[in-house]
Amino acid sequence: MKFFIDTASLDEIRAANELGVLDGVTTNPSLIAKIVEDPDNFTYADFKAHIAKICEIVDGPVSAEVTTLKAEEMIAQGEELAAIHENVVIKCPLTVEGLKAIKHFSSNGIKTNATLVFSPTQALLAAKAGANFVSPFIGRLDDISTNGMELVRQIVTIYDNYGYLTEVLVASIRHPLHVVEAAMMGADVATIPYAVISKLANHPLTDQGLEKFMEDAGVIKP
Ligand code: E4P
Repeated sequence: MKFFIDTASLDEIRAANELGVLDGVTTNPSLIAKIVEDPDNFTYADFKAHIAKICEIVDGPVSAEVTTLKAEEMIAQGEELAAIHENVVIKCPLTVEGLKAIKHFSSNGIKTNATLVFSPTQALLAAKAGANFVSPFIGRLDDISTNGMELVRQIVTIYDNYGYLTEVLVASIRHPLHVVEAAMMGADVATIPYAVISKLANHPLTDQGLEKFMEDAGVIKP
């Protein structure tokens, strides 16, 4: 299973990368907005420069999202973003216009991530259009009392049935149990906020056991 970090913060990306378990990064316009200090003077060139910095830190897919609703404009933006670095993956919304852009990119060797996916039919369309990744937003479904993990199960089953190569990238993860469930279902990737990544290694019995071992080894006093 691949782990991506779901952030645009360079500090968080560096910290997660140091753990040695990071395979990629996902960003979206809201995550980018969080790292912008002066929104009035943040240009598209600044956005591209930020994506380039992320690519220098992590050697793996880095999702950069288009910020327009029309297919032709998504294609123009996506081609510009893809030129930043070979690891850039163009994130397109799973709309009719987004699908057209995904199809264009997949036919032209540009990698894509179909985002804002909330149904199995959207995921099926993403695979048929040739998306490299499909991003079901499980936390946002949980937020409206709908089981987000059930969507992941459906997508994994459908893709297995037909041998689609699109990778299931579980997004909108809120806690470690989402990561466990995604892994149990055979999802290819989990994109995880830094706060959740830092919880994955923790266990109170590990802390308790370590304290006792350190005492018995004379490293710390009881
Ligand atoms: C990542 O690709 C998604 O944009 C992100 O996981 C959405 O997370 P959120 O629902 O917490 O905003």
